[in-house]
Amino acid sequence: MNYRYLAKEAYCSVFHAGMKIGNYALPYRIPELLEGPGCIRQLPAKIREKKCRNILLVTDRQLLKLGLLDSLKEELEKEGIEYTVFADIQPNPTDENVEEGYRLFYIHDCDGIIAFGGGSPMDCAKGIAAKNAHPNKSIAEMQGILKVHKKIVPFWAVPTTAGTGSETTLAAVITEEKTHHKASINDPCIMPAYAVLDPELTVGLPAHITASTGMDALCHAVESYTNYTYCTDLEKDYSKRAVKLIYENLLKAYNDGTDLEARQNMQKAAFYAGRSFTRGCVGYVHAVGHTLSGLYGVPHGLAMAVILPHVMKQFGPAVYERLGELADVIGLEGDTPQEKSGAFITWIEEMNERMNIPKGFDMIRDEDVPQIIAWADKEANPLYPVPVIWKEEDFRKLIASIRL
Ligand SMILES: NC(=O)c1ccc[n+]([C@@H]2O[C@H](COP(=O)([O-])OP(=O)(O)OC[C@H]3O[C@@H](n4cnc5c(N)ncnc54)[C@H](O)[C@@H]3O)[C@@H](O)[C@H]2O)c1
Ligand SMILES: [Fe+2]
Repeated sequence: MNYRYLAKEAYCSVFHAGMKIGNYALPYRIPELLEGPGCIRQLPAKIREKKCRNILLVTDRQLLKLGLLDSLKEELEKEGIEYTVFADIQPNPTDENVEEGYRLFYIHDCDGIIAFGGGSPMDCAKGIAAKNAHPNKSIAEMQGILKVHKKIVPFWAVPTTAGTGSETTLAAVITEEKTHHKASINDPCIMPAYAVLDPELTVGLPAHITASTGMDALCHAVESYTNYTYCTDLEKDYSKRAVKLIYENLLKAYNDGTDLEARQNMQKAAFYAGRSFTRGCVGYVHAVGHTLSGLYGVPHGLAMAVILPHVMKQFGPAVYERLGELADVIGLEGDTPQEKSGAFITWIEEMNERMNIPKGFDMIRDEDVPQIIAWADKEANPLYPVPVIWKEEDFRKLIASIRL
């Protein structure tokens, strides 16, 4: 009898039951949306309504170079809104990126933030907003749950990838520069109040990033749905909608980046999936994936795509019913929940194969495995209501399955 494991299982169950009830008291909301091709041009007028006069525009160097912000900057100038650009952000943003952005926010006396880009600029911007609410707290001190607990400045999120859903989530994932530990600030206070879904901003997204970020959205929908416990009918419905949209549009967007309808549908899928997991939570795919991004710089979506089918297989009977329901949403065949669940996992693997996503990673070092397990276990348990509480050997088995 493994008493330590039994105690851990019991502790997690009590925590999940408490969180399920506590969740009803949390102010989850859906951001006010601007949607459709070219709608980014309408954003400055909305900002003017909020009477902001100096905005911190948080983005990355690549997007500036591509000229993706040009129309936004033009409209801001027309509206007479001053802005300061902060673009020194790396993929998987760090606490030092946030500190630097906050210094700029403070020095320029900014009164609002536009987060423009993929999850990296959006999360960094959320970190800056949290830091502005608590200038004396470090990012590490705000990581965890409900540690911001204070209204942030007006915040507009403009996603340019269709994956993270950060434009609607309560999370900001930041890596500690010194230790490479990647962890989330989770607080409804940092959920953006406004989001802009303009598919024209995503047409230039390279195919391999379209693929991996799209699989990240799928991962959010699937992990939230298989967790189930915290989800209400709304989150379950959003997961199903996201899965259907991804099934119908991801390969189209991958094969033809200029397919505006597919791009728009993928933005919507990422949004639904983000809103689903913001209450339903993610699981071991994210917990282990974050360690690979922190330690080795693996792009987030790529880690998700590779790990997702392995975690679902390892859950086995615990997710047959739920994956079977998702298989029904996209019309996969099977006579039993087990068969349907198998068909769903096979579909995920086929998607990876058709988009040239590798089957595993060759950079995971033996000496890092204990750290990977410790961080992943700490991230997932007890917070995420995962279908099975894993022991150390379960994490080891997963890591072995994703090593090339
Ligand atoms: N906050 C959340 O809820 C949440 C959820 C999932 C992931 N994340 C985090 O988000 C980060 C990953 O974000 P991401 O996957 O969106 O990638 P990213 O923001 O790191 O961007 C990846 C690359 O794509 C480029 N790019 C972005 N949009 C482009 C466009 N339209 N055209 C051309 N190039 C473009 C960027 O310049 C960058 O080089 C990770 O740190 C991850 O942990 C956050
Ligand atoms: Fe993710």
